Amino acid sequence: MSHLASEQILILDFGSQYTQLIARRIREANAYSEIVDSMIPADEIRARGAAGIILSGGPASVHDPDAPGCDPALFDLGLPVLGVCYGLQWITRHFGGTVQRSGSREYGPALLSQRLDNPLLQGVAPVTKVWMSHADEVVQGAPGFEIIASSEAVPWAAVWHPERRIWGVQFHPEVEHSEEGRQILHNFARRICGCAGSWTASHYIERAIGEVRSQVGDGAVLLGLSGGVDSSVAAALLHRAIGDRLHCVFVDNGVMRHDEARELRQVFGQHLHMNIRMVDASEIFLQRLAGVTEPEQKRRLIGTTFVEVFREAAASIPQARFLAQGTTYPDVIESSGIGKHADTIKSHHNVGGLPAELGFEQLVEPLRMLFKDEVRAIGEELGLPHEMVWRQPFPGPGLAVRILGEVTRENVALLQQADRIVLEEMIRSGWYYKVWQSFAVLLPVKSVGVMGDCRTYEKAVALRVVQSSDGMTADWVDLPHDLLGRISSRIINEVRGLNRVVYDITSKPPGTIEWE
Ligand code: XMP
Repeated sequence: MSHLASEQILILDFGSQYTQLIARRIREANAYSEIVDSMIPADEIRARGAAGIILSGGPASVHDPDAPGCDPALFDLGLPVLGVCYGLQWITRHFGGTVQRSGSREYGPALLSQRLDNPLLQGVAPVTKVWMSHADEVVQGAPGFEIIASSEAVPWAAVWHPERRIWGVQFHPEVEHSEEGRQILHNFARRICGCAGSWTASHYIERAIGEVRSQVGDGAVLLGLSGGVDSSVAAALLHRAIGDRLHCVFVDNGVMRHDEARELRQVFGQHLHMNIRMVDASEIFLQRLAGVTEPEQKRRLIGTTFVEVFREAAASIPQARFLAQGTTYPDVIESSGIGKHADTIKSHHNVGGLPAELGFEQLVEPLRMLFKDEVRAIGEELGLPHEMVWRQPFPGPGLAVRILGEVTRENVALLQQADRIVLEEMIRSGWYYKVWQSFAVLLPVKSVGVMGDCRTYEKAVALRVVQSSDGMTADWVDLPHDLLGRISSRIINEVRGLNRVVYDITSKPPGTIEWE
């Protein structure tokens, strides 16, 4: 994908849970970065025209018999190299220094003190907080390497080799806890590798449009629009590239949010003048969901029904030989096996996961190399409404996985009303954009209440509000009590059929974000 950016930094992955974060930080410095297998040949690095190389951290020890490595010829390319944690240890061992098991595994904050003036630490305070997470450490640097900063426990915490232009840090500049880590990675990309900062939303749009046009020629493209951020931004970008030759299909599966279909038609059809086909398949989905209570069965049913309905809709647009998807970089990293593997706790379904057997000639994935924050920046640049670009994630199987027990029209209507109130109050209070997700879950229990002078015996909803950076782990949010109170009393007063609201105070793990 080097054609998407004129300058790039390659990150050789040794399997750290933080590798993606390194890539994000480099891109925040407006330099393009890509994660590649650590064994990429040096010739290929040269052919890609990389401006610099980062060797990531990783769980292995350089003393392991099968310790991962990289092509040593990369050090002769004349490109700046930065080793992070395991990356530094591998470099040290390779050039003849000594790496040993630390006295105890060091995990947590440390104070880094500068010992030498160095471009890597330009603009960084003389003493700064960094995050350590390592079992091995460098006890003697390789010949030609000098210490540029140390922590109390780790003398070789930041090093360089001035002639070879190799740098290494024992700490993790990519994690938030390293207070000036962004500056350090910015220094590497911009000052040391000389990237000019050309990786911006408008630059990306321009290049992606060119790429889509050359891929598609005068063909037509079909895109499944879900209302989520990724498919919406992909649609806007493709529309900019090929106009009316983009055909969007929205499948209403009967378990969408209140007014979702109407809002999408308004934004994409009326406001942006796109071809959009709305397929109301709610009847068939709800028929098939009747009587189903087991979460995985619900998910499977919705997934297979979606493909069936989508296939039929696609057949009515026969000229479309290309299928567009809002695949993003984390999906690409996971499916390529680079980096961490996805969990298999739930069989996730989303519009982007349409199977190959749909019979399209080619996939068009204009967001394939982007992180979520970059997708959002591009959405803004393309003029999508703020509320759409900054929307919270919404699961492919929709409200079905937030209705515990059977999914019926009545249950969907109850939850849609509660969900709308949660959304309105979260937006009004300013909390909507501060949290990862906030939503209501319909519980399959009834409890006794009293309204006016009358007894009620109605259903309950749980309120779920979580903070997360990627959905893999999450913390419940301590919302202000007056906001909780307002949401609760509005739901009970306005939604006939609900008489109790409870707050979910479970983090992930051990809970998951959605209840099913
Ligand atoms: P869980 O419930 O697994 O959710 O902790 C993690 C994140 O993923 C979202 N989610 C889904 N997204 N299709 C999706 O596109 C799905 O089937 C799906 N299930 C869960 C969930 O909302 C949360 O953000």
